[in-house]
Amino acid sequence: MGGSGLLAATANATKAGARTRRTRAADGDGTPEQIHLTWGENPATSVVVSWASPEPATRPRVRIGQRLIKAEPRPYTDGINGETVWTYHSRIDGLRPGATYAYAVTADNDSDAADPFTATFRTAPHGRAAFRFTSFGDLATPNDGWVLSYGQSAYAVDTVESFQPLFHLLNGDLCYANLNPATQPEVWRDFGNNNQTSAANRPWMPCPGNHEVEFGNGAQGFTSYLTRYTLPDNRVPGFGGHWYSFRIGSVLFVSLDADDVVYQDAAAFVTGPAALTPVPSTGTPAIGPGTSFYIKGYSGGAQTAWLERTLAAGRRDGSVDWIIVQMHQCACSSSATGNGSDLGIRQEWLPLFDRYEVDLVLNGHDHDYERSFPVRGADANVGHEVATGAVVNTLRPRPVTTTDNGVFDTSQGTVHLTLGCGGNDTNLDDYGTDPADGQRQAKVFTRANRPVPTATADVFTRAGADAVEDATWSARRDTSTGYGIAVFDVHPDPEDFGGRTSITVTQYHAVGADPVNPATGAKGAPTPDYTEFETFTLIRPRRG
Ligand SMILES: [Fe+2]
Repeated sequence: MGGSGLLAATANATKAGARTRRTRAADGDGTPEQIHLTWGENPATSVVVSWASPEPATRPRVRIGQRLIKAEPRPYTDGINGETVWTYHSRIDGLRPGATYAYAVTADNDSDAADPFTATFRTAPHGRAAFRFTSFGDLATPNDGWVLSYGQSAYAVDTVESFQPLFHLLNGDLCYANLNPATQPEVWRDFGNNNQTSAANRPWMPCPGNHEVEFGNGAQGFTSYLTRYTLPDNRVPGFGGHWYSFRIGSVLFVSLDADDVVYQDAAAFVTGPAALTPVPSTGTPAIGPGTSFYIKGYSGGAQTAWLERTLAAGRRDGSVDWIIVQMHQCACSSSATGNGSDLGIRQEWLPLFDRYEVDLVLNGHDHDYERSFPVRGADANVGHEVATGAVVNTLRPRPVTTTDNGVFDTSQGTVHLTLGCGGNDTNLDDYGTDPADGQRQAKVFTRANRPVPTATADVFTRAGADAVEDATWSARRDTSTGYGIAVFDVHPDPEDFGGRTSITVTQYHAVGADPVNPATGAKGAPTPDYTEFETFTLIRPRRG
């Protein structure tokens, strides 16, 4: 069943990709495409099937066993090019835990109605059970006609499938549609059809990154993102889908929108000299050169308050051992060519991660792989301003050990992983070194890098991070490639490590995929070969 589902997924994606936007018949083309799953409110009993169609679908629906589940239509019109996107969402509840289900997606005007798209998925196990998940961010699409897209993104999706995880965490910067502002819906479509190869078979749980923030698409620019995903309810009015949590086995997963707290200005930006001029039907005014969409603080503290409530409840729950946080931007990244770390996360959220003993934080944003030692607390006044050398308080996370022995007790400190290694075309696996002392060095944003004029009239730029620090928290950096996937195996029942519960983490990487490797200068190309880079184990005392 799984095999035929995979074949069907591939065949339908190909057909959908070849189809044009023209009207084929009076009733339009309601053929499902971009099909993907997310967890419902309880991953053991509910999933959501989401998809799009080229034109409005008539009676869009999911069939599962003898049940027919009507889809909720959620169309939107892109605020730049004026195209309407037709998306559909079917919530499937009342499922059995740890069970495999087949489903079909169709509509009355599905051109494949005689043989509709089918696939299978598995619900989360009930109670304290072992499971596997995978993660990366910064995926893009395989259509290298789009800015930042690259062929590795197709191999990355295939690789998720090869590990057969229960689900995948996609850590923001999904497809960079906001770097292709006149064609945002087309970029999302290529992204969705590429992901379908895996995301129709297992939930892909996303968080927003800076490249989900789009001009013309809502108060924070998230309309494209929020319309395509149905995510667990955070019960915070006005911010549904922006952040959420879900529970599987002994693990509480917490997904955040770090755009709300970071200093860095890295979302939609018109560099100039021309304005970005939306089509008249959108009603969106022209966006002038030097305009960026900066949303720090947009929730007015609502997200951090929710985070504290959620972490506190998790640690009160005797059946929760692990708390794993997903967000896009980084508290601990020492990429030299990338963005680096951000003081906003360190100020706003790291004290909560300390207080509630968050075990693991998964990021994207810098297109590489970096692992921190477990960190707790902060060193004050150890950073320096890049421009002047003056001392800056970067709140540098303090490692609780610098012995890299492959086993880390995360009840003592939080491990941060940068996993922006999905598949876009800009590898950032070039890391900082302090020329004065040879130590690892990280760039840190401690203030907003809003647009500033260049020497060319009407052309603007945004500066890089304003501060640096010696990255005493940095444990491992992959210099051989910017591409990979992290695989997590949760072992809830203590087998060794002195009666502690454990998670085995293995990073697989795609050596040779860098367009240009910064360490060797070697020119590479997309590759399907992912080999082991490192394995380590997280341990903590079992609750209950
Ligand atoms: Fe990013």
